Amino acid sequence: MNKEKLDILKKERDTVILAHYYVDDSIQKIADYVGDSFYLAQVATKLKEKNIIVAGVYFMGESVKILNPDKKVYLVNTRADCPMAHMVNINTIEEMRNKYKDLAVVCYINSTAEIKSHSDICVTSANAVKIVKELPEKNIFFIPDGNLAKYVEKLIPEKNIIANKGYCPVHNRVSVKEINNLKMKYKNAKVLAHPECKKEVLDLADYVGSTSGIIKEAASSNLKEFIIITEVGIKYELLKNYPDKKFYFLDNMICDDMKLLKLEDLLNIMENGGNEVFVNEEILEKAKIPLNRMLKLGD
Ligand code: 13P
Ligand code: SF4
Repeated sequence: MNKEKLDILKKERDTVILAHYYVDDSIQKIADYVGDSFYLAQVATKLKEKNIIVAGVYFMGESVKILNPDKKVYLVNTRADCPMAHMVNINTIEEMRNKYKDLAVVCYINSTAEIKSHSDICVTSANAVKIVKELPEKNIFFIPDGNLAKYVEKLIPEKNIIANKGYCPVHNRVSVKEINNLKMKYKNAKVLAHPECKKEVLDLADYVGSTSGIIKEAASSNLKEFIIITEVGIKYELLKNYPDKKFYFLDNMICDDMKLLKLEDLLNIMENGGNEVFVNEEILEKAKIPLNRMLKLGD
């Protein structure tokens, strides 16, 4: 489908497309908004269209629905789910609440709607440090990502950060050896890493930040070469905007779930519907509170 036809269809169907940087280039190319998890959550609160197609994993569709309960939200592929979103359970949260009086449950947006509904505030990798710093509670149960929790702990030593044991399978498997090999190969390159990586990997990075943060850092740096330690999908945005710079990636940093999304399925949903996201009303009302708190504090 050419761009003109697609734009007509979007208008006819009153539809807008949001996409995460990790989805296939063909989808990023036709999306109306492309960004990191925080940007997509912010955009989701300002849309005028009645129908929203989310090109991302399941929790992203749920978050958009929670922020737009009166709109129809669709996922490109409902089987595309972030494994980390399920790496904490409600019993563990309750145990922690019983153990500490002065506790905030800080929930990475990569989590199910139900987990969010039991949390005090959401964060993304773009704002976790800023938000945790501003919370009045000393004890922070950081769920589900243990690596992001440890990164926050390093930057805010005055808080008692209790790290859950979840992890992103894509970022967690990066090793120190792999980074050192890339550094040896590309001696002039700056290392930009996502905080879902392990601490020992982040210790080797020159910059740590969300996908948007990594892109901004590459844009503003005077250097020309970068080792990018995150999912390979962000290469599209980097090369599109900075064709004179060089970006080196690790071969195995591919999120299989994000790659389940196909352009033909997206176009089919736009024409015929399907894959609508529903969130239980009670969960939605409760999960809205930590998400809105993040939107207020996170910028
Ligand atoms: P950001 O979008 O916050 O950079 O996080 C990356 C990610 O893993 C999304 O699933
Ligand atoms: Fe989840 Fe990791 Fe894939 Fe992001 S990259 S969706 S955190 S598995």
